[in-house]
Amino acid sequence: MTKAHQLLYDELGRSFSGKDFLSIHDFTSEQIMRVMELSALLKAEQKAGVRHHLLEGKTLGMIFLKPSTRTRVSFETAIWQLGGYGLFLSSNDLQIKRGEPVPDTARVLSRYLDAIMIRTFGHDEVVELAEWASIPVINGLTDLLHPCQVMADVFTGIERFGDLRGRKLTYIGDGNNMVHSLMYAGAKLGMHVTCACPDQYQPDAAVMEAAKADAVATGARLEVVRDPKEAARGADILYTDVWASMGMEAEQEKRKKDFQGYCIDQEIVDAANPDCIVLHCLPAHRGEEITHEVMEGSHSAIWDEAENRLHVQKAILALVMS
Ligand code: CP
Ligand code: NVA
Repeated sequence: MTKAHQLLYDELGRSFSGKDFLSIHDFTSEQIMRVMELSALLKAEQKAGVRHHLLEGKTLGMIFLKPSTRTRVSFETAIWQLGGYGLFLSSNDLQIKRGEPVPDTARVLSRYLDAIMIRTFGHDEVVELAEWASIPVINGLTDLLHPCQVMADVFTGIERFGDLRGRKLTYIGDGNNMVHSLMYAGAKLGMHVTCACPDQYQPDAAVMEAAKADAVATGARLEVVRDPKEAARGADILYTDVWASMGMEAEQEKRKKDFQGYCIDQEIVDAANPDCIVLHCLPAHRGEEITHEVMEGSHSAIWDEAENRLHVQKAILALVMS
């Protein structure tokens, strides 16, 4: 039995079996750290040319109602590297677009597939799909959350700093799906998260409340402030994301005005800790939420972060589909 098999089949590993991966909030700190442990192992094995066909013969359906570069390519590659098959399902080609109900789609797909990854708008749609599907459902981004991205972000932070307990992540920009998942992750892992965003673009109050409840156990400090420079002081990780997320294209011009000053530039990097890293989930709008100089600068860990989507999602797939 390989080390990866041992991690999948011990008590903690088995606690994932058949589970949905909809939100980081649904998992314990120990479970999150198990994903990190398996991700590191799979990454090292992949680099060493070791094949790990943990999901031989299994099929992952991947439903996309929004565009994607990283999520699609990393999930498709991930399932293939694990010995399985990835089936790309564009919403344009599914009956869902013509009104077939989610419960019907969920039950039919459950008869063919071993797991479903879905990217869509409403988080409720993913919850409904998971309720009706008898196979694991993985959240590949909703308007509310982006848990797979944040698992890769946490992994990237651990690669650089080791333990994230007591470290500080500062997010600058829109209080969106990225912030929500970052708050949940910080709360579970004892990492402080400070978010600087304009008044009318604050994170969701219910998410903040749930994250703060988790943070009591770990001592994570979760706060929302207005001033980006003040937020950046003492940060180990600087994070940003686009000002207008997918589905908000109509607000793009208004948001460009509202978000002036909410940009990770060299001044912000200089205000953070000297060994800080800069992360961005991508795609980025250079000259808006981040400067070209910072993206390409020595603090940027953005390309490692993008690569880590592959390794971390392999761990998630192996854990829930085994
Ligand atoms: N970060 C991310 O999820 O990228 P894609 O939209 O390209 O999948
Ligand atoms: N907040 C962004 C994340 C993209 C990966 C969006 O939802 O479009």
